[in-house]
Parts: sequence; C-alpha cells; structure tokens
Amino acid sequence: MPDTTPTGLTRLAFGGDYNPEQWPETVWHEDVRLMREAGVTMVSVGIFSWALLEPSPGEFDFGWLDRLLDLLHENGIRVGLGTPTVAPPAWFYREHPDALPVTADGTRYEFGSRGAICHSNTDYRSAAAAITTQLATRYGDHPALALWHVHNEYGVPVSACYCESCAAHFRRRLVATYGTVEQLNEAWGTAFWGQRYTDFAQINPPRVTPTAGNPTQALDYKRFTDATIRENFVRERDILHRLSPGVPVTTNFMTALSQCDSIDYWAWGREVDLVTNDHYLITDGRRTHVNLAMAADITRSVAGGAPWLLLEHSTSGVNWQPRNPAKAPGQMARNSLGHVARGSDGAMFFQWRQSRRGAEKFHSAMLPHGGTDTRVWREVVELGAAVDSLSAIRGTRTQADVAVLWDWQSWWAQNLQWRPSEDHDPRERADAFYEALYDRHLTVDFAHPEADLSAYPLVVVPALYLMTEAAGNNLREYVENGGTLVVSYFSGIVDEHDAVHEGPHPGALRDVLGLTVEEFSPLLKDERIRITGPDGSELSGDVWSEFVVPRGAETVWTYADGLAAGHPAITRHRLGEGSAWYVSTRLDVHGLDVLLGWAADDARIAPRADLPHDVEVVRRTGESGTFLFVINHSALDAKVPLEAHGTELLTGERAAGHLGVPAGAVRVVRLDG
Ligand code: GLA
Ligand code: ZN
Repeated sequence: MPDTTPTGLTRLAFGGDYNPEQWPETVWHEDVRLMREAGVTMVSVGIFSWALLEPSPGEFDFGWLDRLLDLLHENGIRVGLGTPTVAPPAWFYREHPDALPVTADGTRYEFGSRGAICHSNTDYRSAAAAITTQLATRYGDHPALALWHVHNEYGVPVSACYCESCAAHFRRRLVATYGTVEQLNEAWGTAFWGQRYTDFAQINPPRVTPTAGNPTQALDYKRFTDATIRENFVRERDILHRLSPGVPVTTNFMTALSQCDSIDYWAWGREVDLVTNDHYLITDGRRTHVNLAMAADITRSVAGGAPWLLLEHSTSGVNWQPRNPAKAPGQMARNSLGHVARGSDGAMFFQWRQSRRGAEKFHSAMLPHGGTDTRVWREVVELGAAVDSLSAIRGTRTQADVAVLWDWQSWWAQNLQWRPSEDHDPRERADAFYEALYDRHLTVDFAHPEADLSAYPLVVVPALYLMTEAAGNNLREYVENGGTLVVSYFSGIVDEHDAVHEGPHPGALRDVLGLTVEEFSPLLKDERIRITGPDGSELSGDVWSEFVVPRGAETVWTYADGLAAGHPAITRHRLGEGSAWYVSTRLDVHGLDVLLGWAADDARIAPRADLPHDVEVVRRTGESGTFLFVINHSALDAKVPLEAHGTELLTGERAAGHLGVPAGAVRVVRLDG
C-alpha cells in the first residue's frame, strides 16, 4: 500500500515548486542554504523538465537531477518529484504534430507554451509512459523522494480536444456506454431536429454548429474528456506504484470553481493517494478569504475528510489576471494557515525563486527578485517558523457543521446552451450560499448528491439542476430521518442524460419538497422583485421567479410583485422527522442569511453571535488533540471565547476564557485535555 502522506516527512510540508534548471548550479547552493533558513521541508521539482531530461528521443540526461536530489537530501529537504508529462519537448511535436490539441472550431494549438496535449493521442500516451518509467526506475527509491507529482493541473489550460483521435476515442466510449446506436439515439434525444444516427461512425465531438448543438452529446463529451484525462493519470500512477512501491502519488488539483471547470474531482479524489490542491486568489473585488475557505473545504471533501496538502499558492501577487495586486502584510500567513485550518497538512507555493525569464517572471515567489532584504522574504521566514510550530496537527481532521451538495456533472449540464436564463449561474449560487454559511461561522463539507448525509443537521442544495432519481431518494430519506434541507430553484430538473424527469418539475425533488413547479419565469436584466414573509417583513430577489404549487408544503414567503405575485416564493415541507425548504428566487446575501436562520433553527444549530464578523474559527481534531484556528481577517482586534484552557502554538502563551486575536493575525490554540 502506498503512503497517504509524503514519505519520510515528519513535519508539515512547507516549501514550493523549485525550478533550479532555470539557474546555474552555483545558485543551487544558495537556494538550499536559504531554504533551511526559511524552514523549508519539501520542494516540488522536475514538473517541466522533460526537454532537459530527454534532450533527444531516447537519450537521457539525469546527471543534473541526480546532483539536485542528492543536494536536497543532504540538506534534509524532502522532494515531490514531477513526471514532466505536461510539457513534451519540441522534438516530440516535430515527430508527432497530431499530439497538439484542436479547438472546437478546428484550430490546432502550437508548441511554445505548456499543456498542449491531446490526451487521446497514442504517441503522447506511449511517450508519457516511457519518461515516467525512466524516472520511476532511476529515482523510485531515492532517499529524498517523498511524493510523486504526476503531470500538472490536469484539465487546464486545454479543457478539451476535438481532433480526429479524440473523435475515434469518443466513439469507442459511446459504444461501451450505450451498446447500440438505438440506445444512444434514445439517450441523446436525437429524434429532435432530425439528429438520428444509424452508425456510431457518424458521431463526432460537439464541434462548432450553426446553432445550439445536442446537449446530451455535449454533456457526454465533458464526461469523455474527464475520463480520458483520468486514464492518462492512472496509467502514470500505476507505473509509479509498480516501480516505486510505497511512495504516494498525487497530481495537483485546482478545486476552486473559478479555476477549473472540466474535471470531476469526486472521481479524481478516489484515484490519488494524497489529494493536493493549487489555489490562487481571484482579485475580482469579492472577499478572497471566503473563496479560499470554500476551495479548501471542497478539497477536503474531495479527500473524503482526510488531510490533504496545499501544493501551490502565492506569496504575493500572481501575473495572469488583468490586475495583480500584491498581498497585504500578514495576508500570506492568513491564506496559508487558512488552508491548514481546513485540513491541509502544510502550505506550499509556486514558486521558490522568482524567475528572471519566461512567462512567469512577474509572479511572486518565496525568494523574490529583490532577494532576502524584502518584506516577502521576511514573512516567508516567519511563516516557516509558524508552520513548524504546528507539527502536532498533522493527521487531525477538520470538523464541519453543515453540508453543501455539489456535483461537477450537474454544473456541466447546467452550463449547456439554451437554458431559461443566462443570468442564472450555478457557481454563483454555490458561492453565495457558501458565503452566507461562512458568515454564520459554520464550517462546510461539500458532498456528492448521492453521499450519506446522515451526519449533518443541515444540508444546502444551491443549484443542482441534474439529479438522478437515486439522489432525490437520498434527500427524501435524509429529511424523513430528521434532517433539514434547503433547496434553491432549478434543482432536480433533469436526469443523467439531461432529459427532463417525467411529470411536473422538479422531478427528482417533488416528494421531498412537497410541491410542483408549474412554470419558470426568469426575470429581466436588473429586474428585482419583493417577497413577503410571515411577519410582513420583505426580502428581495432577482434573476428568477416561478409558479410553485404547494402539494404538502406550507408557504412561508409569497411573491409581492412580478408575474408570480401572490404565489409561494419560499416554502417549507415537514416530512417525517425533518423539514425541507425551497426557495424559488435568487435571494441576495441578506435574504440568504434570513432563510438560513430559519433553517438553522429547524436544524437546532445555535447562532454564533459571540463571534465577530470576518473572524474565522475552525477546529481540527484527532489523536494529537483538538486545535482551534482563529483567523482574524478584519481590521479590528477580536476576542473569541474559548470553551477550555489551552496553549496558543504560535506565541507559546497560555490561553483561557477569551482569546485575543489582533487585527489581521492568526492564532492556533491547542486545547487542554
Ligand atoms: C499554476 C501552475 C504553476 C504556475 C502557477 C502560477 O498553478 O501549476 O506552474 O503556473 O499556476 O500561478
Ligand atoms: Zn484530440
């Protein structure tokens, strides 16, 4: 059995991507000296080194990597070794131009960047297996080796290829899925617009069409792409397991919904030995720490609740957004320890030393262009010490209060063409519900719609357009057994083939919600409507309204204006031991908070009025104890009640009663007992 934590690492992981091939070897010695000064425990190397390792076909140069791994080992630094299969060399593309991916409109990408890969291409597959075999044979039992880092961020920058090899591979998958072309016609609804096929050979990827294409074809292509990429990961992983037994294999995910939309991480989480993630702040004006917490919670959930590892984030600004602000003093530590609070057994960065050349020279690093006499370097050294003082939390698990249902496949389906409103965005709803839960100081687990939910008093369904019958039954059972459910509009509408469930909407959820939806009535751009609650109070919605017919549910809020005026807007269905809420419009932050307040009462979740706004409190527990993380994102000093005495690990001070956390600071209390 491979390890599930980096082999030989006895502390939290702290370090980053290390690309020494960009520097003369004399610099390497300075690097390791400074790594030791900063408390670096692990680095990721070789991720983009294929062209150096195999300068021409079948000719290898491992000398530099041998010297590098030995140097790191002598200095006690563990290594995550990359398989460089995200960056095949120029000579490879000369020999195999077909390995370059093709866009939906037929453009073939060129060499000269990275990640230009058609994952169906058999030459690419063989070459990737060959270089992986070489590396595993040579370094499989190297004493510095802690982790295999396969490829890099599968799913980006090319989310799908539409070439002829992919077409052939897609057809093979369709044959395996549907057996006969009649079955496929049925599932894809090809009776519509005369799209009927009489042979699998007639089917292509969903390339550019004059108007809306077949939605199920597009959805199946998303599944095909995800599965094909996963096959390539699994092939490399199996080689590594065979030639380097015991060493865990990972590939760095990008679970933030804003950063990758083509990978079904529920499926991928089951394939890696250790879940690792990359996270970058999207500086679009929203609260970046909330987005970070959400990505960390998704990552932990994909890891089944087990500890995971933040493999990349940034010390300061990135270089690939329209505007790339630096991080404020202290923000890097809040970010790093925010991930640790939510289950990461360490904090790593892209990258160790800032590049002088290439596309990422304006991306921050642990060691900036300005060297060691810089704010960033001083904060890196400080963070290294902080991370070191948290060693005891390794292996403990983050405790969640509630669950949010999320499914990448439903997201794919909902984003297909020609939906009732382009203003409805499932990701926006997931973000908004998450933010409302965050502001109630509730820690969130994400769950697949068919997962066991019995551990959660409250389950929130932000927008789950595609839901199988099994998922619907799962939710009904959950409520019957005492759970509280909150469902947002446009959920439970279609089955796994994007076919509308039979009967009135929402087919998969009619029973549990005790209602039907007769008609959707999306609102016009910027149109807002009011809804009136039990005590006459008003909330407001936009984007969506609909005609809800209660069939067992009670009406709690009613549309006050718009086409649906007088009809139910928010309902509650008491079913068995529990209750199921339904909200049929897009509530703003305040409205969501009010709704969640009602639902939290049903779920008997006490409000945390004692915790200040923007002060994050998260708990990790395990054999080594209970650890309370308090992250003060606000500009005010905060006081947080403690339920037991304890020791604050970053300052070494004793803590009892209340814990003072200065503005912008992080505290981690190990509770006594
Ligand atoms: C990704 C990649 C890294 C680097 C960073 C920059 O996460 O994995 O190689 O490009 O982005 O933010
Ligand atoms: Zn292809």
